[in-house]
Amino acid sequence: MKTQIQPLEYSHFPVMLSEIIQIIIPSKGGLFVDCTFGGGGYSKAILKFPKTKLISIDRDSTVMPAAKKLEKKFQDRFKFYQLKFSELKSITKDKADAIIFDLGLSSIQLNNLKRGFSFKSNDKLDMTMGLTDISAQEAINNLSEKQLKLIIKVLGEEKEASRIAKNIVIARSQKKITRVDELVQIIEKSKKKNFLSKINPCTKTFQALRIFVNKEISELIHGIINATEFLKPGGKIIVISFHSIEDKIVKYFFSNFSKNKSKPSRYLPEDNKNNIELFEKYINKVIKPSKSEILENNPSRSAKLRFATRSNSSFIYPYDLIKKFNKYLDIEAVNV
Ligand SMILES: C[S@@+](CC[C@H](N)C(=O)[O-])C[C@H]1O[C@@H](n2cnc3c(N)ncnc32)[C@H](O)[C@@H]1O
Repeated sequence: MKTQIQPLEYSHFPVMLSEIIQIIIPSKGGLFVDCTFGGGGYSKAILKFPKTKLISIDRDSTVMPAAKKLEKKFQDRFKFYQLKFSELKSITKDKADAIIFDLGLSSIQLNNLKRGFSFKSNDKLDMTMGLTDISAQEAINNLSEKQLKLIIKVLGEEKEASRIAKNIVIARSQKKITRVDELVQIIEKSKKKNFLSKINPCTKTFQALRIFVNKEISELIHGIINATEFLKPGGKIIVISFHSIEDKIVKYFFSNFSKNKSKPSRYLPEDNKNNIELFEKYINKVIKPSKSEILENNPSRSAKLRFATRSNSSFIYPYDLIKKFNKYLDIEAVNV
């Protein structure tokens, strides 16, 4: 039989799949939620275990044909919804055994140059993952210099944000910036040459814009809170993150709301200052892809997996998490 090789553009290599299977143990059965369907890598792997039920979501409508095909094949065990993490509450009344988030973009999204996520694109500045209010083009042409600088500096952790924001504003006063290659030229012109740096000069600005357009930090914070609310006691929440802001949030959530570290919430009434112990004792351990996985799939090199186990304490809303990372939420909430 001939093996069909899929063009790279249409495939996504699921990151740390075997580690995830070891954590969630689907062979025992149960209800699983895959919050980032993407190329369907995790979903298909979970459905191979006959006692599992699976709900998957993704904000991107382009995954629908593959998800619908899977729904047909596993009619009584699989359901897909086009939703964002922040809308997670509405999908089921049942409690889940494990909920998985594999953050960021799939290779399918990145390699489709028409979507404008890649700095190799000559297409329009779009960068929308789906269910967004604005595109990168609207952000670039309408935000003030001060707002652009803040977004690029904080969400992209870009040291040269000032010059980049300034040059964007100068360029757009002459002509509206509509294409990815136009933005690439502005960033390259703005940055000092650093021949030692291994990363592309555009990486951080593109990361910042993508996070802003898709409100990725707000989505992550509301997503992990929503997921925790509908996990069974003993259920696992797993997050794979790809940059430091995401990992900082996940680490804070899992460690500060666990049995070993929890503190009373400042937002609870004085007579009800319970510790919020959403998770069992948290071992602050990051799991990273093996050397062989990185060799096979280079984009996995920056992945960090963390997981926590839901305790049997009742759910109390962790307002302190929102307060702690409000800086990012405020930046993403800027109106364009
Ligand atoms: C890295 S890919 C997931 C790949 C998947 N694990 C696989 O094995 O094929 C991330 C996916 O999550 C989706 N996504 C990102 N943020 C989301 C959000 N806030 N709500 C719903 N889906 C989101 C993206 O559209 C993308 O398809």
